[in-house]
Amino acid sequence: MAPVPVRPARNARAFPSPEAVFGHLLRISRALAGHLDLQSAIQAVSEELDDVLPHDHLDVCLLRTGENVHVAYEAGLHTDWSLAEHPIPVSGSPIRSILLGEARELLTGDATTDPRFRFEGAFNHPIFDQNLRSRIHVALVVRGEVIGAFSCSKHDAGFYRDEDVTIAGHAAEMLAPYFYALRASQDAKRLAIEEAEGRAREEGLREGALRLTEELERERQRIGMDLHDQTLADLTRVVRRLEGLRDGEDRTSEALAPVIGSLHRCIGELREIIDDARPNILELFGFAEGVEDFLVRALADTGIVWNLSDRSEGAVDALGPSLRVALFRIVQEAVNNAVHHASPARIDVDLERSSEGGIQIAVRDDGVGFAPIPQRRRIGGIRNMQTRARLISASFFLDRLADGRGTLMSLSLGAPTSGEGEGR
Ligand SMILES: Nc1ncnc2c1ncn2[C@@H]1O[C@H](COP(=O)(O)OP(=O)(O)OP(=O)(O)O)[C@@H](O)[C@H]1O
Ligand SMILES: [Mg+2]
Repeated sequence: MAPVPVRPARNARAFPSPEAVFGHLLRISRALAGHLDLQSAIQAVSEELDDVLPHDHLDVCLLRTGENVHVAYEAGLHTDWSLAEHPIPVSGSPIRSILLGEARELLTGDATTDPRFRFEGAFNHPIFDQNLRSRIHVALVVRGEVIGAFSCSKHDAGFYRDEDVTIAGHAAEMLAPYFYALRASQDAKRLAIEEAEGRAREEGLREGALRLTEELERERQRIGMDLHDQTLADLTRVVRRLEGLRDGEDRTSEALAPVIGSLHRCIGELREIIDDARPNILELFGFAEGVEDFLVRALADTGIVWNLSDRSEGAVDALGPSLRVALFRIVQEAVNNAVHHASPARIDVDLERSSEGGIQIAVRDDGVGFAPIPQRRRIGGIRNMQTRARLISASFFLDRLADGRGTLMSLSLGAPTSGEGEGR
C-alpha cells in the first residue's frame, strides 16, 4: 500500500514577512560563523530560527562519509537520536527516504500516526517518547549529494504548513555547506586520531618486541655463563679424574664413586639451567600441570595458600608451543609479582575455556594491591606481560581488585581461527 501522507490541518498562525525571514536567515549565518563544532552550531541555529520557524525540537542528522550510518545533533530536547552510543543505520531511520535520496522533503501533521515513520526496525521511539507530532524534514544537499537532513518538530499536531516547509528549505540550503565543512573537518580529525592511535600501538609493539629480543639475548648470555661457570668446570674436573683413573692403578668402585657423584651433580645442574630457561614440563605434561608444578616450586616455604582451578579442558595444549610458552610466562610473572610485592595470604589461578572456544586466565592475590603509579619504580615484568599478550593478540588486564585488596591479572585469548593454532 502506498504511504498516505498525513497533511497538516490549517491553523491561524500568522506568517513572518519575506523580509523578516531573510533577516533571520542572515542572522543565522552570522551566528553560525562563530561555531566550529556541530553541537553548538545547531544550538545557535535553533535560537535564531525559533521566531520564523517555531519548534520544540530541532535536529540535523549527517551521514557518515562512506558508511551507511548517520549521527544526529539536536537542540531543544535531547533524544536517543543523538544520545545513542553508536551511529544509527540509515535503514532504521524514520526519514530514510530523505537520506537515501528518494525524497527531498517530508511534512507531517502527526508523526505518531503517519505510516511513513512506522516500519519494521524503525528507530522511531523518540517520536513517541517526546510526542513529536508535527514534523518537517528537508534534505541537506551539497553539490547534488545528500549529506543529511534538517528537521524540526512541534508537540502540537497539525502545526506546520507548506510555507513552513519553504522556510525550512531556505534554512537547509544555507546550513548544508556549513555542516558539510564541519563534517569534513570532523572526519579529518577522526582520521588523524585513528592514525595516531594506530601508530602508537605499532610503536609500542615494536618497542616491546625489541625489549623481548634484548631479554632473550640476556637470557642466552646467562645460560652461556651458567654452563661455563658451573657445568663446564665440573665436567672438566670429571674428565681429569677419569684420565687419572685410566693412567693409574686403582680402578675400584670406591675410586669411581666420586666421579659418578660429580657426573650426577653435573646432570642436576644442567637440569636446573634447562628448567630455568624453558618451561619444559609444559611440553611433557601440558599447560595446567606446568602451572601447577611452577606454583608448587614458587610458593614452597612461603606460607602462601594457593589454588589452581582448571576448567580449560586442555584448550591451551591445543595451541602452538610459542603461544603456550607466552601464556605460561605471563602467569609466571603475575605469580612472581604477587609473591614478591603483594605479601598475600592466598593466590588463585583460574584457567577457563570461554563459551566461544577462547581461553581466559586469571591470577588473583589478596595482598597489598598496587601502589599508585609514581611509587612503582620498575615496570619491566609488567611491560613484558603486556608485550607478550599483544604479540599473541590476547587482551591483558591488570588492576587492583574492586574491594581494594589485592590484584587481578586477567588474560583472554580469542578462539583460534582455522589454520591458526600451531602457527600462532
Ligand atoms: N601483585 C602485585 N601486588 C602489588 N604490587 C604489585 C603486584 N604486581 C606488581 N606490583 C608492583 O608493580 C611494580 C612493577 O612490577 P614489575 O613486574 O613490572 O617489576 P618488578 O617485579 O618490580 O621487577 P621485574 O622486572 O623483576 O619484574 C612492582 O615493583 C610492584 O610495586
Ligand atoms: Mg615483576
